[in-house]
Amino acid sequence: MIRINENYTKLKASYLFSDIAKRVSAYAQANPSKPVIRLGIGDVTEPLPQVCIDALHAGTDEMSKRATFKGYGPEQGYAFLREAIAQNDYAARGCRIEADEIFVSDGSKCDCGNIQEIFATDGLRLAIPDPVYPVYVDTNVMAGRTGGVVNGRYEGITYLESTPANGYVPSVPSVPTDLIYLCFPNNPTGAVATRGQLAAWVAYARANKAIILFDSAYEAYIRDPRIPHSIYEIEGAREVAIEFRSFSKTAGFTGTRCAYTVVPKDLQAFDHAGKSHSVHALWNRRHTTKFNGVSYPVQKAAAAIFTDAGKQQVKAMTDFYLANAALIRTAMLKLGFSCVGGDNAPYIWINTGRDSWEFFDLLLNQAQVVCTPGAGFGKCGEGHVRISAFNSRENVETALSRIAAALKA
Ligand code: MLT
Repeated sequence: MIRINENYTKLKASYLFSDIAKRVSAYAQANPSKPVIRLGIGDVTEPLPQVCIDALHAGTDEMSKRATFKGYGPEQGYAFLREAIAQNDYAARGCRIEADEIFVSDGSKCDCGNIQEIFATDGLRLAIPDPVYPVYVDTNVMAGRTGGVVNGRYEGITYLESTPANGYVPSVPSVPTDLIYLCFPNNPTGAVATRGQLAAWVAYARANKAIILFDSAYEAYIRDPRIPHSIYEIEGAREVAIEFRSFSKTAGFTGTRCAYTVVPKDLQAFDHAGKSHSVHALWNRRHTTKFNGVSYPVQKAAAAIFTDAGKQQVKAMTDFYLANAALIRTAMLKLGFSCVGGDNAPYIWINTGRDSWEFFDLLLNQAQVVCTPGAGFGKCGEGHVRISAFNSRENVETALSRIAAALKA
């Protein structure tokens, strides 16, 4: 008799954004005359930068000729892209990251979800923020690293609480842990971590022989020059951190698909006997076994953002979304809510003081605006909603006037 992985029965019935999509589509079907504006899932709306479009065309043309046609590429990504990343995202910020420490992939969601496979399933102590991008918790539940849910939380996780009291940036825990998830600029809160705060995490990981999984998918939105873009800007991080980056929110690639993960060769993890192993070698083994690389034209398009014109076009695109974020933040403050995010991140985290699914329903039913209920990101998300800045200016402005009217009614 075929049996299931019973860890899946511990999960909520559906993934947060699928659940929201179902509710929104039911509403839209029942109310065809009321157009809905989506500020829920962080999905980009603006066309790809022109340099990327040109590179996609050029890459496709190369695939059309026998002389330049390409079959399987290197699983880890073409050297031209890995070198451009190492130079522009790391060397230019003073970080020592070699091109062969970069693994190009089709998305950070997959990488953040898959990375846990190379670590132990028994006895590993997890530290995961609350609220948090649901992939970190759910993939560890699937792998059997947690118990069941007690009082709304999985047993076996040290939750790192992000609350108004700590400015939504959790401090290092008082207990030792082994695998630590951090995300800055944060999804969902939009909060950023200072150099000092990240240095405390690196010191904690070093002291505990732990590994930090640092998700910096939103680093292109940082405007405050004091805020680090990479964990590797902190001394000693090469020995304790893996970093995830994505072209999705940087260059509008949510539908094009390209991302990368950095695994420094200095990073070691241990077997049951305490013997150390190269994490880079383990991830390389996993990646080459289960992944065949991102398509050549897409990697050409990703590399194009590192040209002078590409850098300008990416800056213009992220500035555009940040201007939306500023409008949302100002409107929410004017309505009397306190909020964080939106200044170095495309998300605004609003403390509504009300049940977050009720607030979600209110915005959907009365304003036809989709947000993301904070409770979907964890217990500490209750009382909050996340509004995404990813939409056209016109839709953001319409959404804000509809929200103001709905809340005043
Ligand atoms: C979000 O809305 O949190 C993100 O778009 C989800 C993702 O990147 O998978």
